[in-house]
Amino acid sequence: MNPVYDFTGRVAFVTGVSSGIGLATARAFATSGAAVALADLDRPALHDAARQLADEGHQVLALPCDVTDEQQVAAAVDRTVAIFGRLDMAYNNAGIQIPPADAADEDAEIFDRVHAVNLRGIWASMKHELRHMRAQGSGAIVNCSSLGGLVGIPGRGSYHSSKHGVIGLTGSAALEYAPRGIRINAICPGTIDTPMGQDMIAKGELDRAEAEANQPINRLGTADETAQAVLWLCSPGASFVVGVALPVDGGYVAR
Ligand code: NAI
Repeated sequence: MNPVYDFTGRVAFVTGVSSGIGLATARAFATSGAAVALADLDRPALHDAARQLADEGHQVLALPCDVTDEQQVAAAVDRTVAIFGRLDMAYNNAGIQIPPADAADEDAEIFDRVHAVNLRGIWASMKHELRHMRAQGSGAIVNCSSLGGLVGIPGRGSYHSSKHGVIGLTGSAALEYAPRGIRINAICPGTIDTPMGQDMIAKGELDRAEAEANQPINRLGTADETAQAVLWLCSPGASFVVGVALPVDGGYVAR
């Protein structure tokens, strides 16, 4: 059992759970006693993740789901409530990274793809989670933005625009739903040591030493550290925290 949070009897829905921050967050929810619905488009990796968590003794449900398809998202959220009976917490994490490009050379298809996953996927997830939470009159949602939702970086316009959009969606929905007992917030991770960041380093799109030096704490973050921010935002300890975009970035945006 997680020594900090007790989510026994609570139900969490997490997207993008096959690796990295999503998997760490699903495990952290489960370790804190929650039943966890796992949604991801990579079926083999999703089933591996679900098996790992089930073998650790956790109550999980694997839901193949592409967040760019609203019907699949609606079905996954409905199935979570049908099986577990309620929905208390959601972490909308599924996202993709794209290669850096000069603003004069950016590709429209890549722009659309990154927005379809990173922004429309979060819009659809939040919409269908709220259908259930609204009926319940309670809930906490955390959306995954990025430090790229707070600042600009040369060559990253399309990705950063998708992540800025997440903060806009989060703030508006937070104001709409706070009076109805539902808290909505976002996290803004810095560079986190996950397959996404490792892939960028391997392709030469990100320099590890430079990324470490850019974060005043002088290292990359871990998926577990990022998960802890999500759990706190969902916990009673954050009961007065509404509509924030919380940097989890070793001090990057504080510079
Ligand atoms: P990751 O690549 O390890 O995990 C991403 C997960 O999303 C995978 O399980 C993948 O299968 C899933 N996914 C991708 N497209 C999907 C779709 N259409 N439908 C359903 N699932 C889909 O990445 P990581 O690093 O764990 O990133 C998680 C989130 O954190 C992303 O939104 C990312 O943009 C954000 N982030 C990551 C940072 C980093 O440095 N790793 C920094 C800032 C934000």
